[in-house]
Amino acid sequence: MIEAHGLTKVFRDRKRGEIRAVDRVSFRAQPGQIYGLLGANGAGKTTTLRMLATILQPTEGTARVAGYDVVEEPEQVRQHVGFLSTATALYGRLTAEEMVAYFGRLHGMEEATLRARIEELFATLEIHPFRDRRCDKLSTGMKQKVSIARTLVHDPPVMIFDEPTVGLDVMTARTIVGFIRDCRARGKTVIFSTHVMSEAEKLCDIIGIIHNGTLRAEGTLAELQQRYKETDLEEIFLRVVEQPA
Ligand SMILES: Nc1ncnc2c1ncn2[C@@H]1O[C@H](COP(=O)(O)OP(=O)(O)OP(=O)(O)O)[C@@H](O)[C@H]1O
Ligand SMILES: [Mg+2]
Repeated sequence: MIEAHGLTKVFRDRKRGEIRAVDRVSFRAQPGQIYGLLGANGAGKTTTLRMLATILQPTEGTARVAGYDVVEEPEQVRQHVGFLSTATALYGRLTAEEMVAYFGRLHGMEEATLRARIEELFATLEIHPFRDRRCDKLSTGMKQKVSIARTLVHDPPVMIFDEPTVGLDVMTARTIVGFIRDCRARGKTVIFSTHVMSEAEKLCDIIGIIHNGTLRAEGTLAELQQRYKETDLEEIFLRVVEQPA
């Protein structure tokens, strides 16, 4: 459902010269699975996810998402993914509900389907208490919930989340983590990025550790624990990123 082959992104920056933000990254995530990209700041997580979501063109390599090629068939990819970026914006003058409905209509959803979907999303994400509040009056956590609802209103088979719980309190983070688990149970292919070890431990079926643009290790938590003879993911992570590339 997500297959990346040698994904590479080179940025050309006037000051810094050539930056290999993502360098020959290959992996696969299946339906009913949560794939976690774990990496430090600047590791290349966002750049990888943006290529999968067709926001950025790969410099080299390719990826297929929901069966469509990100370079050849970007429109099809966009119809089949929901991408939650850390810069997902809401229109301040719309209410939470208007915002989500607006995006549903952009996706061409029928009114009855859209209504049912909004009720379902608002219940699982606990948006009901502020559904009629304007987006510019929402707290960070409330905004994040509405952003997730608007990203996934069309119920895409593939979900891409860039640091979905960053800056959220434990309760709000828990709601979102629970929601991501529900998505897996419903057979969605989920990929998300994080630098929070506990989140990767709890949530991911497969963990990919990315560092300086390259995928340094990959496996289930149990596989990584066995390979590195450590139980603590933080220790494993440090071992992986400190070893020479
Ligand atoms: N548009 C851009 N132009 C130039 N360099 C960029 C651009 N976007 C990202 N980079 C560089 O690419 C590298 C990877 O950045 P990226 O945002 O993918 O990291 P990240 O893993 O998401 O980090 P964080 O955890 O801080 O969000 C960094 O060196 C960054 O400065
Ligand atoms: Mg990032």
